[in-house]
Amino acid sequence: MKLKKLELVNFRNYKDLDLNFNSNKILIVGKNARGKTNILESIYYLSSLKSHRAKTENELIYWGESVANLKLNFEKDNNDSKLEIILNPPKKKILKVNEIKKNKYSEFISQLKTVNFEVDDLLLLRGTPENRREWLDLAINQIYSAYYDRLNKYNKIKQQKINYLKNSKVLTFDANLFDVYNSQMAIAGSNILYLRLKFLKEIIKYAKIMHKNIACDEELDIVYNSTILGDIFLDENYILPGINEIVEIYNQKLEEKRELELLRLQSLVGVHRDDISYFINNIDSKKFASQGQQRTIVLSLKLAQVNLINEKTGYNPILLLDDVLAELDDLRQSYLLETINENIQTIISSVDTYQFDKKYLKNVQIFNINDKILK
Ligand SMILES: Nc1ncnc2c1ncn2[C@@H]1O[C@H](COP(=O)(O)OP(=O)(O)OP(=O)(O)O)[C@@H](O)[C@H]1O
Ligand SMILES: [Mg+2]
Repeated sequence: MKLKKLELVNFRNYKDLDLNFNSNKILIVGKNARGKTNILESIYYLSSLKSHRAKTENELIYWGESVANLKLNFEKDNNDSKLEIILNPPKKKILKVNEIKKNKYSEFISQLKTVNFEVDDLLLLRGTPENRREWLDLAINQIYSAYYDRLNKYNKIKQQKINYLKNSKVLTFDANLFDVYNSQMAIAGSNILYLRLKFLKEIIKYAKIMHKNIACDEELDIVYNSTILGDIFLDENYILPGINEIVEIYNQKLEEKRELELLRLQSLVGVHRDDISYFINNIDSKKFASQGQQRTIVLSLKLAQVNLINEKTGYNPILLLDDVLAELDDLRQSYLLETINENIQTIISSVDTYQFDKKYLKNVQIFNINDKILK
């Protein structure tokens, strides 16, 4: 995939922005607070309908305005494709793919494939389980688009169950209804669990190679900490259980926790409580990895994502690197830039161009947003 043209109206600090891309290597250069991240954020938003920074749509709209418009032309299968988002909260956002309105988010998400790598990702390992699940969920969305709807469905059922637990009084408690919530959770949750395990099993093979290339004597492993199936060591030899088998165990686990859930009025087990652990030479990186080791893991995961998207969808994703180069040492920086296949369009934001060697700067398209060419 290749980006051709990005138009933003009232998105973040851009009243009106029009960028035409004509290279696979794009640098967005500007001093702090000029709007570099905002450009990358708009591209990532067009791909995932997700912003890591904004909690509400309003935050994405130029202050004082009520409507924002994002348009992107890109090349897909040698054809021109178009994406458009109109934000007009509190109304539902309008989504268009090739001028055709899409009512379901899942029909829009990951039309454009991206891998986003920003400074905050470097904290992934030391962050919360929620951060780690979010990374996983967004990465899966880029490959299995049905995942988005399934996750939404699961979250809705989970919320209904929690509301029911919180609102029901002992006298009005309906055990049958509670069972219905649980069995719905088991089915929806098993689908999520299955796809998470499948994805991790697939990504680890690439991540291990990338990791070895940077840190020769260290072995990376991933363990999925499931509240349903226990800790699962993911490698290529792992045999995925069938959905029916997972549903059965899911139901058993919910049954085991039933009393405790009623006592605490919380939903205690399920994919919303799971976590991921990364091990280096069998040592849990959450607790023991140095900053450099953590960076190597995250970098390996991001590059593995690029490879896996290509393997599974046939598309080269767009790689968005927001300020991360400055955070990586020379070894990791050059590994990153040299490993990126030249067919992968890469958009890098940076405060200056000094850190790039001459070889990289060849054929690069630079947008200097300190200049007034941009409004
Ligand atoms: N909704 C909005 N309306 C107008 N301006 C906004 C809005 N949201 C953010 N901004 C402004 O956009 C500016 C640029 O933000 P951005 O994060 O893109 O900068 P940056 O170039 O990436 O800076 P840094 O180098 O520090 O990361 C900020 O000063 C911020 O105040
Ligand atoms: Mg920034």
